[in-house]
Amino acid sequence: MNSAAMTRGNEVDEERAYYDLNKRVYPAFAPFYDLVALPVRRLRHQVVELVGAVDGKRVLDVATGTGSQALAFAARGAEVAAIDISEAMLRVARRKNHFATLTFRRADATKLPFDRGIRRLGHVLRGPRDARDRP
Ligand SMILES: C[S@@+](CC[C@H](N)C(=O)[O-])C[C@H]1O[C@@H](n2cnc3c(N)ncnc32)[C@H](O)[C@@H]1O
Repeated sequence: MNSAAMTRGNEVDEERAYYDLNKRVYPAFAPFYDLVALPVRRLRHQVVELVGAVDGKRVLDVATGTGSQALAFAARGAEVAAIDISEAMLRVARRKNHFATLTFRRADATKLPFDRGIRRLGHVLRGPRDARDRP
């Protein structure tokens, strides 16, 4: 095996380890996540501002966690589909949701259940590094 292939092999192993770590850590972290994320709560609305006018637009929040960013988009009139791999994180998110225009669904970012219609993927807070961009 040449060194480029070995490097790629190591990267794949690292990605897999990170993916597995994410799957293990967040379910245990779910009850405390919002407390830990308190310092960034003001950023939620700034992110919506940065994106621009979202009223009536459709937003996909990948790796939504406990849904705070998705809620901020919904509060500004967006129709939001939010996905996360952790059911425990989603349970917290669903408890906070009072928008009919916001839905939470369990899904893996590496196998997004939306084949078409995704035009832009942005990255706000650190989510899964292994999510593949789609056109
Ligand atoms: C830092 S937390 C939540 C970040 C969230 N976007 C926010 O703004 O607070 C990262 C989230 O990524 C989720 N996650 C990790 N790997 C994932 C994957 N492959 N597919 C979907 N969600 C994933 C975790 O379950 C966790 O809820």
